[in-house]
Amino acid sequence: MLSNIVSSMAAIPSSVSSGCSQEIDWNNLRFGLTTTDYMYVMKCSKDEEFTEGQLIPYGNIELSPAAAVLNYGQGVLEGMKALQREDGKFVLFRPVENALRMKTGAERMCMPSPSVDHFIDAVKQTALANKRWIPPPGKGSLYIRPLLLGTGPTLDVSPAPEYTFLIYATPVRNYFQEGSAALNLYVEDQFDRASRGGAGDVKSITNYAPGMKPKISAKNRGFSDVLYLDSVSGKFVEEVSSCNIFIVKDKTLLTPPTKGTILPGVTRKSIIEIAQDHGFKVEERQIAVEELLEADEAFCTGTAVGVVPVGSVTYQGKRVEYRISDTKSVCSMLLSTYIGIQNGQIEDKKGWIVEIS
Ligand code: COI
Repeated sequence: MLSNIVSSMAAIPSSVSSGCSQEIDWNNLRFGLTTTDYMYVMKCSKDEEFTEGQLIPYGNIELSPAAAVLNYGQGVLEGMKALQREDGKFVLFRPVENALRMKTGAERMCMPSPSVDHFIDAVKQTALANKRWIPPPGKGSLYIRPLLLGTGPTLDVSPAPEYTFLIYATPVRNYFQEGSAALNLYVEDQFDRASRGGAGDVKSITNYAPGMKPKISAKNRGFSDVLYLDSVSGKFVEEVSSCNIFIVKDKTLLTPPTKGTILPGVTRKSIIEIAQDHGFKVEERQIAVEELLEADEAFCTGTAVGVVPVGSVTYQGKRVEYRISDTKSVCSMLLSTYIGIQNGQIEDKKGWIVEIS
């Protein structure tokens, strides 16, 4: 499997500090970058298809200053996790969904993309090459970041002549500093995340930097993150800067529909299915801020974030608190099924789990 690794470790630039898994304190992992051993790289030119990639030592990449990704943000990203289970298996969760989402995003951003099979094979190769970085069961996961970038030069606003598909990986645990504790969200009414007809439903690299300012501002005021509203009326809930949102009212789950401005999360999709299997009614529809404020529960979903309860939301100075993660909450019940399927304690009847070893 590793035969296509370019083996010269001397190729690692000295500016990249490679961690050592022997030294990792698995009990204190957070969501931050630890450089690992290998990354996967594959290139193709415009109008061609991706054919062959290779694993190379993790390191910096060389880019033209005129690269489309640097100048015009022509790029999409994905986020996935490889887990080590108690039964000794190393697994991915629904990688087909990430491959398909990258394809849809690539089309929107005028880029060629790898086939679904090629994407999954490359992800598996990257996870296996960095296997020693996959945390022990229950200690976290290997976060896998596939990137598709317009790396060829262009001065006018047009698609790049060359593309790079790159995957790197890093061991992580909880995304939020709160760990798995409930989040305190600030309902953002000044900045928007996405607009009608834009690319808010694409995992474009351009969708994240504009969210840094409102998020930092909210964090400086003691909040965990911001919850955006729709950009047309400012009356409906959209999503958090790094994850989707659900609310629970009686036996119904509500989440905004993926119609243009909402990122179609893989965890979101999975939680909808799990909730329906548990007999909940799930409505994908616009959620007015008033409904959010009157909900029984709220929680967030995302690959990096997982499934995390919301403890409070603050909207125009009004703070509302929710029932949080007692074992009877809907969030904790759905979370335990979601985790159970991933760690093998609940039978995977849907074919969501893909083994990598
Ligand atoms: C993920 O959940 O994997 C993402 O890509 C979100 C990112 C903001 C960490």
